Amino acid sequence: TVSALEFTQELSTNPKSASERATILANPGFGDYFTDHTAVIDWKAAEGGDAQWQNARIEPYGPISIDPAAGVLHYGQEIFEGLKVYRHADGSVVSFRPEANAARLNLSARRLALPELPEELFLESIRRLVALDQDWIPDGDGAALYLRPFMIATEAFLGVRPAREVSYRVIASPAGNYFGGELKPVSIWLSSKYARAGRGGTGEAKCGGNYAASLIAQMEGEANGCKQVLFLDEFNDNAVEELGGMNVFFVFADGRLVTPALSGTILHGITRSSVLQLGRDRGMDVQERKITLDEWRDGVASGEITEVFACGTAAVITPVGQLKSETEVIGSEDAKPGEVTMSIREQLLGIQTGTVEDTHGWLTRL
Ligand code: PLP
Ligand code: COI
Repeated sequence: TVSALEFTQELSTNPKSASERATILANPGFGDYFTDHTAVIDWKAAEGGDAQWQNARIEPYGPISIDPAAGVLHYGQEIFEGLKVYRHADGSVVSFRPEANAARLNLSARRLALPELPEELFLESIRRLVALDQDWIPDGDGAALYLRPFMIATEAFLGVRPAREVSYRVIASPAGNYFGGELKPVSIWLSSKYARAGRGGTGEAKCGGNYAASLIAQMEGEANGCKQVLFLDEFNDNAVEELGGMNVFFVFADGRLVTPALSGTILHGITRSSVLQLGRDRGMDVQERKITLDEWRDGVASGEITEVFACGTAAVITPVGQLKSETEVIGSEDAKPGEVTMSIREQLLGIQTGTVEDTHGWLTRL
């Protein structure tokens, strides 16, 4: 069966030296460095038959050769995932909820008319890559090896239809704090001109096109001193959706923990679902519902909303200090990280890094 595909292995002939690696791991940043290997699985038709997953392999990390007519280069048929791998004090190597990433990859695959990848192949691709490159897992507060599985249409064909040849790959990159430096509340920019998703679109798929659509808004935000962009819903009724690469939460003084409901246009964040569970465990009144800009503004003004935070695999949990737009500022640049935000962050990071008990079975040993 496909889930039992054998991986072949070609080792890198010029891996980074231990000292080069140590220098990188001392200050990994986010997404700047890559490990020595990559996992690959192709999907194509065998002689006259249906397309299937085949040729699973580990290759040295490096540039890939692709036909200039490949579908991904023209029509953007691409999806990706992001998950982290940690080394615990007892030496075990674990990843956080990889089965959820496998499931979400397939949700994205269905929307982008790409083939679904069996969960066991997804997990095996990660196990094989991490087994080889585990010396790349950084130590240090919140540091991890970030895995980036992705799938691209490789068939050379300019007609507009789903590709019949596809490639799935995993690359790995040591990661520290996504926003760089020490953790402090970030400012976010309200995108009033640009949307990242619309009704029936690809908002809840993790596809490159969504990020391409967000970049101009992100640039506008950066020009205004902000680190991330907030997108509102597509109905023009000012409902909060999510940030360019993170979900968003509101902590209320009365113990409510509120995040926008999954409306079809926002990503089903795995950190989001974990935070909802941790909130329930604490007896908070957890709500997935519509929350508008007006409720945010009024809630901060009245003291009803005490904390706002962003969450995602890359960002972990990051306090939001203020929301800025062309016309107003909600919150403050000098806000201190909120107590609930930091407590949930500590708990989540503790579970991930093995210092807090994993009562939900979120860790998978690789
Ligand atoms: N929203 C967007 C647009 C993202 O890119 C991400 C990052 O993956 C998230 C939310 C958070 O998702 P997760 O917690 O699964 O990383
Ligand atoms: C992640 O958190 O995994 C993301 O994909 C966010 C961003 C780096 C695109």
